[in-house]
Amino acid sequence: MSRRTVRIAPSVLSADLLRLQDQIAEVVEAGAEWIHIDVMDGRFVPNLTFGAGMITAVRRVTDRPLDVHLMVVEPEQYIAPFAEAGANVFTFHPEATRHVQRQLEAVRQHGMSAGLALNPGTPLGFAEEVVDDLDLLLIMSVNPGFGGQGYLPSSTGKIRRARALLDAHGSAAYLEVDGGIAPATIEAAFRAGADTFVAGSAIFGTPEPGDAVRDLRNRCREGTPV
Ligand code: DX5
Ligand code: ZN
Repeated sequence: MSRRTVRIAPSVLSADLLRLQDQIAEVVEAGAEWIHIDVMDGRFVPNLTFGAGMITAVRRVTDRPLDVHLMVVEPEQYIAPFAEAGANVFTFHPEATRHVQRQLEAVRQHGMSAGLALNPGTPLGFAEEVVDDLDLLLIMSVNPGFGGQGYLPSSTGKIRRARALLDAHGSAAYLEVDGGIAPATIEAAFRAGADTFVAGSAIFGTPEPGDAVRDLRNRCREGTPV
């Protein structure tokens, strides 16, 4: 008996950008709940990706919630433009801004869900201090910046501790995991208490992205929930 609803959030970072509309349609058709969009600025992480233009473009082709993950310095600069572009979840890293609680509040004031992302080396305590301001807690299971990296095994214990933290505070925040989620790793993350799973290469790196979405979800069903 799982009290958790599983959400699969395919990351367009690994999609074929010239076929993005079709690729999104395939994963949505297969039941993907959210679409994950990775925003990187070449400063917080050593890579560059998308801005508001991508959010606007994806918004036009799907009604699924857009789960935007900002790996940028000063994420506050993007709250208003991303809300305007149609983002639904706005997740940033605490090291990237001076006033984390203020920005979480600002995200909510702009009508989006507020998420905080913790790198593998970032303590859970960052989330504990602002737990009442969180709609989502993202545990990074790789060091952010690139798709296709391996799931760090230490993430499983951190997810378990994050689950306990949210439960202890009566928080209904989503517990999301991002990085190296694949058929071989998703069950451990699910069993540890995650409910929302970002996957890039394990979905778009396969010939049938829709089948990959279904496979990931089934592996959670098979797992014993916490
Ligand atoms: C990594 C990004 C991820 C990335 C995951 O920095 O935040 O969302 O798309 O890619 P995979 O699933 O290939 O590890
Ligand atoms: Zn991401």
